[in-house]
Amino acid sequence: MNYIGSKHTLLPFIEQTFRQISDGSEKTACDVFAGTGAVGRLFKRLGLRVMANDIQYYAYALNKAYIEINEQPRFTRLRQKYKGEFARLGDVPAAVTERTLAFVNSLPVAEGFIAKNYGPAGGRFYYSEENAGKADAIRRTIEDWFAEGIIREDEYFYLLCSLLEAVDQVANTASVYGAFLKRFKQSALKPLTLKPLTLYNHVTGCRAFNRDANELIEEIECDLLYLDPPYNHRQYGANYHVLETIAAYDNPELTGVTGLRDYPRSRYCQPRAAREALEHLITSARAKHILMSYNDEGALSLEEIHRILSLRGEPKTFSQRYNRFKADSNREYKRDATVEYLHYVRVIR
Ligand SMILES: C[S@@+](CC[C@H](N)C(=O)[O-])C[C@H]1O[C@@H](n2cnc3c(N)ncnc32)[C@H](O)[C@@H]1O
Repeated sequence: MNYIGSKHTLLPFIEQTFRQISDGSEKTACDVFAGTGAVGRLFKRLGLRVMANDIQYYAYALNKAYIEINEQPRFTRLRQKYKGEFARLGDVPAAVTERTLAFVNSLPVAEGFIAKNYGPAGGRFYYSEENAGKADAIRRTIEDWFAEGIIREDEYFYLLCSLLEAVDQVANTASVYGAFLKRFKQSALKPLTLKPLTLYNHVTGCRAFNRDANELIEEIECDLLYLDPPYNHRQYGANYHVLETIAAYDNPELTGVTGLRDYPRSRYCQPRAAREALEHLITSARAKHILMSYNDEGALSLEEIHRILSLRGEPKTFSQRYNRFKADSNREYKRDATVEYLHYVRVIR
């Protein structure tokens, strides 16, 4: 998923840095601002037991799937219920997943919250009429199947995660959901299609949370604490409100031309509150290593971050040039590359 602040392209840098700071004894990692789960997935791939957390429900749903699930689900009860759809299919998980997704992708369109509010029928153009109706049909079916006990919790989040990835692919936006385009772009006219998820490594006991990082930090303990808070005033809840509603499917009240829902305001998006929140987070952390991504254009200065990390040990900084995330291709940015930093402290106090 194309996501503001995603560390997808920075994973080699993060892995390399982790290898430098590691003493080989680390077993657990916690990613408390997990977003797409890209970094948690890296640590899982490296064999660590991961806890991934995000305040946004769509991010929680992604992490429930990518972090908690170890293998393609078998959809046993679903196959029993729809015997005809799954006839002559062995018990090979990849084939079962493919057939399940084909079944879901072929559901007839339905009129629900997405079509009424995010499609042309609702006067908004986030999705084509066809894709909005398909998204409603799939979202509702997943919910019904779970409520009826036809799919288990892991299967529910597997399908929900695949749906979120799929709707993001066909969204008619410049990038984020702060606005929709007035005319449908090519990719938005492609049919909504759920695809199998790429799952990493078999590590049992990985968990996803949907909490404020500053609350969760009081309750967890890990060898490596990875921090990737928002850098600036742009609230994720506002920029990804459509994904939030599709994930939660909770019929929220929407306002304005863009159909914004109410959303949690992150303290990390305001300089003063961010300083206090980060200081609390770092001083409360029960971890051996703290590794934090934060670039030189954030609400907090690098000196401030250094000062806060010094409360726990001797801070060190690793850096690399990084291509800027372009939220809106029509806007001109002064620079198209930025230096990305990993701030580190080995906790000794
Ligand atoms: C820079 S993004 C993380 C990107 C992630 N590392 C990735 O690669 O996709 C910051 C994330 O922090 C989340 N967030 C903001 N405030 C939070 C808070 N107080 N507690 C937990 N998560 C928060 C946002 O929803 C967003 O997903």
